Amino acid sequence: MLAEIGQNIEKCKSILLSEGLVAIPTETVYGLAANGLNQTAVAKIFEAKNRPFFDPLILHIGKLSQLDGIVTYIPENAKKIMHHFWPGPITIVLNKSNSVPDIVTAGHSTVAIRMPNHPITLKLLAELDFPLAAPSANPFGYVSPTSPQHVFDQLGLKIPYILNGGNCNIGIESTIISFENETTPKILRLGVITKQDLQSIIGNVEVEINQNSNPTAPGQLDQHYSPFCKLNAIEDLIFESSAVPNVLFFSPQSAELFWSTHKQIQHHPFYLSKNHDLIEAASNLFSILRDFDVQHMSEVYVEMAPNEGIGLAINDRLTRAMAKRH
Ligand code: TXA
Ligand code: MG
Repeated sequence: MLAEIGQNIEKCKSILLSEGLVAIPTETVYGLAANGLNQTAVAKIFEAKNRPFFDPLILHIGKLSQLDGIVTYIPENAKKIMHHFWPGPITIVLNKSNSVPDIVTAGHSTVAIRMPNHPITLKLLAELDFPLAAPSANPFGYVSPTSPQHVFDQLGLKIPYILNGGNCNIGIESTIISFENETTPKILRLGVITKQDLQSIIGNVEVEINQNSNPTAPGQLDQHYSPFCKLNAIEDLIFESSAVPNVLFFSPQSAELFWSTHKQIQHHPFYLSKNHDLIEAASNLFSILRDFDVQHMSEVYVEMAPNEGIGLAINDRLTRAMAKRH
């Protein structure tokens, strides 16, 4: 079986109704979707991705009325965020109802929910009477896919269908905000919707980004989003170079990743953005990380983005990509 890439909504629907998997486009990254209320279907996601069962999934909905069946209660501030940003790149964690299988939430009492902003996926969701559980459509720990080809390259032998929605325009995963504790909403993952954006709608928001490898805590592992090539801080290169003045040795399989144009080192440069534009940088990030592997790079020296706004989300992904594999 080799995955078909196409735009046939009816075909997606029939695969999903028979407990199968379909890759779906969203504005952030491609997701690997199954019927989110069907335990057997959801189990296939974990198998295809080789994802550990302790890592819970996001349920994707197409309309607000679908929340009724999956959460017990929606705090006012969560409603404000939904009305302001959905459909869009923000996931909201709420207390789950009994109809959500434990496999989706890794046994936790909360469930993560998002209404994605992509026309063809919204069309598919409108045809279904269940939410779609969908993690990013990549093998666990690898870089998230932002095009149908990325999905095909890694999961083409494991899934029957990839719904083609072109390239994802945002390019990094949604911001996650949790209302597990209603009075102190917490950002669990950074994205293009920033803390400032959220505070302007609901007032005080805390940030609690897990930087750990604790498998019992839902959230984020310190090593993630990693290409196979080795990623180092650009400072290491500058340090090594100045130690041996005038004798710069670059391996042909090494490169530099600059967030934007950089004047000092121009050996084999890649740029996240040539216009100092953080939105453009985010949208290019994952396809450039994949390119390093496609081009068989062995080592890449990475310059961080500025530590502000969307730059924080980009740096979060870069830091995890650079962390050593355990
Ligand atoms: O942009 C996105 O969010 C993409 C697209 C496909 O929607 N999806 C995505 O899914 O990034 P995934 O599975 O790669 O990341 C989901 C994150 C994980 O870090 C998981 O631990 C967290 O959401 N998560 C899911 N349910 C949670 C919960 N109940 N409490 C806390 N974190 C949760
Ligand atoms: Mg992921």
